[in-house]
Amino acid sequence: MFLKKKIKSIIRMFLPLLLTTDVLASTNVLNGVSPEKHWLSLEEWIFTTEPLVTLNLLKNISPFDAVAGVVVASPSRREPNYYYHWVRDASLVMNVIVKKYVMAKNNKEKHLYHTLLLDFINFSKSNQTTLNLSGGLGEPKFNVDGSAYMESWGRPQNDSPALRALTFIHLAKVWLSEKREPLVRSLLYSKSFTSVIKADLEYVSHHWRDTCFDLWEETRGRHFYTLMVERAALIEGAHLARELKDYLAADWYFAQAQIITNELNRFWSPEQNIVMQTLDRDGGSDYKFSNLDSATVLAVLHSTLSHKDGFYDVSDDRIQATVYALEKKFSEIYEINKKGHRGIAIGRYPEDRYNGRFNDLNFTQYNNLGNPWFLTTLAFAEFYYRLVKEIQDENKIEITSRNLQFWNALGYGKNKNIQYLLAALKTKGDDFMYTVQFHMNGSHMSEQFSRYTGYMEGAADLTWSYESFLRAIEQRSTIFQGFNKK
Ligand code: NOJ
Ligand code: NOJ
Repeated sequence: MFLKKKIKSIIRMFLPLLLTTDVLASTNVLNGVSPEKHWLSLEEWIFTTEPLVTLNLLKNISPFDAVAGVVVASPSRREPNYYYHWVRDASLVMNVIVKKYVMAKNNKEKHLYHTLLLDFINFSKSNQTTLNLSGGLGEPKFNVDGSAYMESWGRPQNDSPALRALTFIHLAKVWLSEKREPLVRSLLYSKSFTSVIKADLEYVSHHWRDTCFDLWEETRGRHFYTLMVERAALIEGAHLARELKDYLAADWYFAQAQIITNELNRFWSPEQNIVMQTLDRDGGSDYKFSNLDSATVLAVLHSTLSHKDGFYDVSDDRIQATVYALEKKFSEIYEINKKGHRGIAIGRYPEDRYNGRFNDLNFTQYNNLGNPWFLTTLAFAEFYYRLVKEIQDENKIEITSRNLQFWNALGYGKNKNIQYLLAALKTKGDDFMYTVQFHMNGSHMSEQFSRYTGYMEGAADLTWSYESFLRAIEQRSTIFQGFNKK
């Protein structure tokens, strides 16, 4: 028994490596074309960098000294120690693996991704049943041996179970499309409250009204990001429940999502012309005066529905107004944004004090001002690519008093032609990719880069940075048709 386990774990150690050879073989990387930044066009750079980024992401899944299914946030073990399984980061990353499973080029590759997904299901089930200090399914992170993290932390974080559910619902849909309903019923969703998806949906549907810590783990209150992903999980979950004939559950999830929709409209501030991030604050950090936060953009990206309903979507003028305000603010406050480089860098929120190195909640320590992050800068690229796609599909742009400044910044004042504006949006997305290309180190991305010098800071090889890169370029690849490739 023990030996079998040991052998299994040894095989697992080599899984990422096996995948890697496949991934690399499909490109020129091994044949001597290195992604030398300045000689390559953006196209070529993306083409050569993607497999390396995929490799960096895979390395952080089930590392050798962790239980199978763990996704470490970063290999960094001190200043900061990110060698934990964060449910949020892991769920976003494993959603990429679901896509890779779908796109797999051969059976071997498919099988390997399948194994990673099975491990993640098992580990998630163990997380759900491990007693923890949140006292429920909102526990944000676990030790890599699967035990609960017993130190003080900003908990609960209720976006975590919602994101985990979204990833598993995505997988369930894929398996259903492969005619594997029994597998879905035995591993992912059944009427039993202990099935991995239903456990999270029950928790979310009964706890979304509670205040909790935000995705940045600092502020307690009600958050736009958290409610958006909770709503998305309940809607997607309701569709799945219906498909599997769990009708009462489906109705209950839909009903709760409807109430959350109303609640989310409270976050729009006509006075500030932005979507506010946190309302009803009742704990944690108290210095986020502007209430302006990139988490608003992440919320839009992470809550995309398979049955589109347009609510707070990329084309929503309230979201566009917030994007404009964030860009303006970050352009003003970061030194590296004033050097005339192509593109700007985006951070979490203007008042951020976290420089990426320490890991406790004693905020007074953070005298250093926060930096731009790769994952937020990449989220802005993805936002623009998505907007291009949306406009290409709908063939219309709606200008309102709320989003006029956003569109003027793209040249709307001079030229109202839709093709012209589409090209401007795509260039804008590419600008963010240039910023990332400029500051990353080869294929490596940490969590942050210095607001003064641009050099990388914070946790090395942050798994979430790689996830956001892969999402952004995937979106970019969907919009090319109408454009000349340059
Ligand atoms: C670590 C958290 O993950 C980060 O979001 C926060 O800013 C710092 N600790 C400071 O509390
Ligand atoms: C700090 C970030 O604020 C949080 O969102 C993330 O989950 C952890 N680091 C781990 O990457």
